[in-house]
Amino acid sequence: MEIDGSTTIVGVIGYPIAHSLSPRMHNAAIQTWGINWCYLPFQVTPESLEKAIEGMRGFGIRGLNVTVPHKQAVMRFLDWVSPEASAIGAVNTILNEEGRLSGYNTDVEGILAALRFGAGLENLPEKVVVVGAGGAARGIVYALTTVTDVKHITILNRTIWKAERLAAEMEKMAKEKTEIAGKELDGETVRDELREAGPGGCETAHGAGLVINATPVGMYPDVDCSPIEDPSAFHPRLVVYDTIYNPEETRLMRLARSRGARSLNGLNMLVYQGAKSLEIWTGRKAPVDVMREAVMS
Ligand code: ATR
Repeated sequence: MEIDGSTTIVGVIGYPIAHSLSPRMHNAAIQTWGINWCYLPFQVTPESLEKAIEGMRGFGIRGLNVTVPHKQAVMRFLDWVSPEASAIGAVNTILNEEGRLSGYNTDVEGILAALRFGAGLENLPEKVVVVGAGGAARGIVYALTTVTDVKHITILNRTIWKAERLAAEMEKMAKEKTEIAGKELDGETVRDELREAGPGGCETAHGAGLVINATPVGMYPDVDCSPIEDPSAFHPRLVVYDTIYNPEETRLMRLARSRGARSLNGLNMLVYQGAKSLEIWTGRKAPVDVMREAVMS
């Protein structure tokens, strides 16, 4: 990669940013294409966010990914926000077109592509359980409401009122096409929600076919934790998707596998949301396999 006077700059802002895998992933795609672009990490404190966004206009930076803790706060500095991003209340991708900044949320596409292509779930189950009610859960629940296969979502959270509030808000947004309940994350509720599918393999009105962890529980360095501790909650017809990718196999994934459930980590979600961002900036179809390879090596 040679940087010269006509190199186009893209990058990511966050705080902290040192451990981000995005530069490696995006620069691998850029190299494959052989275009004169470069993707850089920028550490931006909350106090300097506004100046950083002005700097994006000033420097003519073509695109930025936005990560923790700026996804919500950045929205007020943009000229336009996509309906999806405004429904979720978070932007993770900014496109700069001659100083006009547009905000998008590619996490929606990220989770859906990870489930469809990464996990091979062409049809999503009728019932999905999402663990967590923070920013990550919000994007995932929103994404699930856009899929007609999914009829019921249960949000399980340590703090029940947050689960109830998110469920009510998202159900309203989905114009009640999807039934969404908010419940407490406790052993009995988990077992009840994940109850084994009915005879003949079909799901019962109750049993979830997919559970998605949208909490940071189990993430490095707290690798001995899991949001669901009881292995008997899992069964072989269940798919467990953990949005965590460090470690590669979380305790949640191990527990689920020990009961015959299929489990996947969040690496594909990272890759597909990144691929979508790159497509927004370049207008080209991103090389997903190259990007995946780059973050796995
Ligand atoms: P993010 O934007 O990454 O989702 P967040 O908004 O801080 O981060 O949300 C973190 C989520 O993980 C919340 O649902 C949180 O539960 P609470 O609402 O009860 O705080 C959940 N979480 C974090 N640590 C947890 C723990 N040790 N056990 C269970 N849930 C936890």
